[in-house]
Amino acid sequence: MTQTLDSTLPNGLSLDQARQDAARAYDLDRAHVFHSWSAQNTLNPMVITASEGSYVWDGDGRRLLDFSCQLVNTNIGHQHPKVIAAIQQQAAKLCTVAPQHGNDARSEAARLIAEIAPAGHNKVFFTNGGADANEHAVRMARLHTGKYKVLTRYRSYHGGTETAINMTGDPRRWPNDHGNAGMVHFFGPFLYRSHFHSENEQQETERALAHLDEVIRLEGASTIAAIVLETIPGTAGIMIPPPGYLAGVRELCDRYGIIMIVDEVMAGFGRSGKWFSVDHFGVAPDLMTFAKGVNSGYVPLGGVIISDPIAETFGNHAYPGGLTYSGHPLATAAAVATITAMRDEKMVENAADIGERVLGPGLREIAERHPSVGEVRGIGVFWAVELVVNRATKEPLAPYGGTSEAMNAVVAECKSRGLLPFTNFNRVHVVPPCNVTEEQVRDGLAIFDQALDAADRFCKD
Ligand SMILES: Cc1ncc(COP(=O)(O)O)c(C=O)c1O
Repeated sequence: MTQTLDSTLPNGLSLDQARQDAARAYDLDRAHVFHSWSAQNTLNPMVITASEGSYVWDGDGRRLLDFSCQLVNTNIGHQHPKVIAAIQQQAAKLCTVAPQHGNDARSEAARLIAEIAPAGHNKVFFTNGGADANEHAVRMARLHTGKYKVLTRYRSYHGGTETAINMTGDPRRWPNDHGNAGMVHFFGPFLYRSHFHSENEQQETERALAHLDEVIRLEGASTIAAIVLETIPGTAGIMIPPPGYLAGVRELCDRYGIIMIVDEVMAGFGRSGKWFSVDHFGVAPDLMTFAKGVNSGYVPLGGVIISDPIAETFGNHAYPGGLTYSGHPLATAAAVATITAMRDEKMVENAADIGERVLGPGLREIAERHPSVGEVRGIGVFWAVELVVNRATKEPLAPYGGTSEAMNAVVAECKSRGLLPFTNFNRVHVVPPCNVTEEQVRDGLAIFDQALDAADRFCKD
């Protein structure tokens, strides 16, 4: 599909200049940049030359609807003018301070985050991103309880640093796992591919909780510091916990003296149509980690939201952890502006409305037309489409941990038609920004609908 290219990109670059810059960026990237999670010689990165709102522009100057939000982090879209202005003003006022000093941007960001957090969570420890937030949450739980072992889910992602990657329940852990990180993995609820042979949500909740209870008893509650779980697992497949599951985990944690850590790095800050995904379930964890959407990723930032009893543990005893950039002024000024813009422009409400009225129904309608769609699930602007070779057998369109010609074909079709999707194994995740418009969603769904013809061709009876 051909697109008429604008002669000037939204950042003021001429098309020619943007293309020249992109070609140089590409060559230098291939010569010098070492990329995450990749065999370096196999890469062919798309250069992004400009971005605005729900769109990015590639190295040829073509516009794509960004339904990946990059790594599901640009929750307020690209280049939001209020956040850019806040970063610019903060840079002119005070670029950096050491973590032991006070600073108005950091203080205000902490106040705003505590305000939207569950009651009784009044302190925020800022980190550089999500992985180190999880590292510190686990460290706090271990010190608070005096116990070491941590239970985490299969089908999860918690970050790339040493403890966080060992918490992770996906194949990225395997090469980093030496069996000595103190992590034990368990199965969470996932009705579509139920580990418990459940036929409905109620069974899945009961059986997943009975399984977790048994893991706790067999591992020994006296050895377990924390249970860590993504409120709604993100990269692993956007599985909404069935009713009663998270409340049941809370109850198990209380019964056995275990800290409940909830990872809201991807699921937080409006993504699911509430400020935090725990808000859907009426559950308050002991520690909650965040990153990504807190400032839409404009400047790296993450953190741990700490409940009052755990904060109190470190009231008179030093917390043995810190970071040079904890609460960096540029990052926290961006967070203040992001949260304020989200509130003023009702983006969380928009995410909920778009999910309920447009994205969910639209994806379900598409699913009816395409035999390759096994399941559509999600909430807010957080949706997964599970692609299969056969609906009855649920054989995935790409193997767990891998990709396939069929998945590559779907992605190529999306991109050539102007849509940038997020994919993982056999799934396409439809994760636009919280302030996406109805028209943009309808445009994106129309492209996705056409692109799925490529997947249907790989279906077998
Ligand atoms: C749920 C979750 N936790 C933690 C992380 C790690 O965050 P970061 O890449 O900022 O370290 C991610 C990143 O994708 C994530 O999705």
